[in-house]
Amino acid sequence: MGSKGQVLAALDTVSVNEAVDWAHKLDGAVAGLKLGLEFYLANGQLGYRRISATGMPIFLDLKLHDIPNTVAGALRAIVPLQPSILTVHAGGGLAMMKAARESAAENADKLNLKRPRIVGVTVLTSLDDKDLAAVGQSAPVSDQVKRLAELARSAGLDGVVCSPHEIETLRRDLGEEFLLVVPGVRPAWAESGDQKRVRAPGDAALAGADYLVIGRPITQAPDQRDAASRIALEIGAALGQKAG
Ligand code: C5P
Repeated sequence: MGSKGQVLAALDTVSVNEAVDWAHKLDGAVAGLKLGLEFYLANGQLGYRRISATGMPIFLDLKLHDIPNTVAGALRAIVPLQPSILTVHAGGGLAMMKAARESAAENADKLNLKRPRIVGVTVLTSLDDKDLAAVGQSAPVSDQVKRLAELARSAGLDGVVCSPHEIETLRRDLGEEFLLVVPGVRPAWAESGDQKRVRAPGDAALAGADYLVIGRPITQAPDQRDAASRIALEIGAALGQKAG
């Protein structure tokens, strides 16, 4: 995993067999696979290993959020799985994010493994300004996203998860090296489903997203590999236009 606009396919299912089937179909057509709470809570480490056995990089999206000591322990448990990227909630605070980062480095070192990259979840895209006010946060979503992304960077995290509409601002404020992992991406030919503020894959890549997390447009397509290839073509065309 490396340059901008790489696709991570979200395998949102409780079925290991279905996820394995998708993973085999997508091998080589996407940069990696995302496993989230739905899959992991249903299938645990054994299920995870069935998918990672494909050799494809895994984005383990467990959105950890607890006291620093507990999150450090969770990282100790996860590091042997060798996810390429994993998530913690930036709202868990500076000490929690630092604990996650340190535990990841320390435990990877002990086992002689590559440290997983850790990205912070800023504000969930399901929340708007009114929802934030209801939990006692008076800032507009955009200010809160910026604040949490800066905090994540101070804690030494590798990047953040953000909505497609925050890419330009965060890229400008946080620099080229900070990873931006972006869900809510929809090619023009796919249904938007419950994603409200979507953006096309080429636009998101051009804006500076490192990774595009795309689920249903791929997994629910009649031919998953074909859908992934079409998305990769769209991204390649958008980035090629920029280069040209
Ligand atoms: O199917 P779809 O493309 O909407 O899937 C997007 C994936 O990204 C899902 O796994 C969802 O949990 C995840 N995600 C999201 N919005 C966020 C964070 C993660 O849609 N803010």
